[in-house]
Amino acid sequence: MRARDRIQYKTPDQIRLMRRAGLLVADALDAVRAAVKPGLTTADLDAVAEDVIRSAGGVPSFVGYHGYPATLCISVNDEIVHGIPGGRLIESGDLVSIDCGAIVGGWHGDSALSVVVPTDSGQEGESSTLSATCEQSMWHGIGAIASGRRLNDVGAAIEDFVAGRYGLVEEYGGHGIGTEMHQEPHVLNYRTRDRGPKIRTGICLAIEPMLTAGDARTKLMPDGWTVKTVDGSRAAHWEHSVALHDAGLWVLTSRDGGESALAALGIPIAPLAD
Ligand code: MF3
Ligand code: CO
Repeated sequence: MRARDRIQYKTPDQIRLMRRAGLLVADALDAVRAAVKPGLTTADLDAVAEDVIRSAGGVPSFVGYHGYPATLCISVNDEIVHGIPGGRLIESGDLVSIDCGAIVGGWHGDSALSVVVPTDSGQEGESSTLSATCEQSMWHGIGAIASGRRLNDVGAAIEDFVAGRYGLVEEYGGHGIGTEMHQEPHVLNYRTRDRGPKIRTGICLAIEPMLTAGDARTKLMPDGWTVKTVDGSRAAHWEHSVALHDAGLWVLTSRDGGESALAALGIPIAPLAD
């Protein structure tokens, strides 16, 4: 069976259920973002997210995923993705990427953001620009779902926006999402000759570009999870879970449904009424 035949298209009611998971992930990420400060460990931040998710009756989806041990992935500086929370201390100036997934009523949400821990000297400038460019590349990728005809329009939009200013990680990408965290199709963050399956109503995708300040090559650490840049350059990672329904696009893991970020690109959103 081809990948395009394995895509789980969602009904409006199913997308409404996914919105509940998406908002819980947004709540958890907001709480973690507010908590980030020098002197805390990454395990402390993990506990913040776990508490938000479990208090609301949700289930952290990363725990137990192929044996993964935590609620969050926290990837600091030259770590790109899948950093395991633990005893590492957050320091001022760190570029911290936080990835969170939750299940509510059997449906998944998955989202990530990067933050730069403020410094007195204001030296966070370069990392902030890296993170902001990664975030904007994500919104361009998301926007391509609304106007796109083929799945690789997403990767093409991300690559065009980055335009060689930063390394664009190719070994990892986005994915379908629904009753599992990872579903078909795999979503590349760069342009390919194969434009991929048609984008159809009901598709739900996690769009998640990763950018590096230097070389985009990656290496897997001996812990079997943490992915770092080969050249030691810093990396940023942003992700949202998005649904396309009859009336248009809805960013499930964004509190405003993606309205403000996509309005800046001239793309209206279409929230589903309860
Ligand atoms: N959120 C990641 C993704 O987008 C998955 C994390 S891997 C896990 O694909 F093992 F931590 F779950
Ligand atoms: Co994901």
